Amino acid sequence: MKKEILVAYASKYGSTAEIAQSIADRLRSREVPVIVCDVREIEVLNGYRTVILGSAVYAGQWRKEAAEFLKDHQTELSHRQVYLFSSGPTGEGNPTELMNGWQFPENLQDVKDDIKPRDTAFFHGKLDEEKLGFAEKLIVKALKAPLGDFRDWDLIQSWADQIAEEYHQSA
Ligand SMILES: Cc1cc2nc3c(=O)[nH]c(=O)nc-3n(C[C@H](O)[C@H](O)[C@H](O)COP(=O)(O)O)c2cc1C
Repeated sequence: MKKEILVAYASKYGSTAEIAQSIADRLRSREVPVIVCDVREIEVLNGYRTVILGSAVYAGQWRKEAAEFLKDHQTELSHRQVYLFSSGPTGEGNPTELMNGWQFPENLQDVKDDIKPRDTAFFHGKLDEEKLGFAEKLIVKALKAPLGDFRDWDLIQSWADQIAEEYHQSA
């Protein structure tokens, strides 16, 4: 098995990619070797003992490429140490409360139950109006979702610290 942790992400406008990068940087600072990449770049999983997979959430769903990755590699992932994260809500307060109880995409719940991740996190996201398409702007307006960057870097880094600790314990 490879020593490196694989940090894979699915991101439309880059903010989830930055969360993945921040997790990777934090792990490296804790002497954990890491490979970080867009989930679309991964064809085979061979060798990684620990996998962190994160996706941006759109209309309650993970991005297609992240959902497909989870399903396509379900069996392999069920034999590995897996950590999942979603990113999305803008505004102050607990992400799950902001999203009316949402914790994970319903259509992937069975796959998640089978994989049994060590932890599943839900982080705040970022809405940059300039980047959004016309229809997206309308949706965001209709939902009254606050614009701006609400990512909680302290929380993200302490999540990475917990993974680093578990990595060193199980080494
Ligand atoms: C059209 C649209 C729909 C969204 N739907 C959700 C949602 O259902 N749940 C959620 O938590 N965030 C939702 N968001 C917020 C995004 O997940 C958030 O902007 C995230 O940080 C985007 O990540 P990315 O930059 O990696 O694509 C939505 C954003 C847009 C523009």
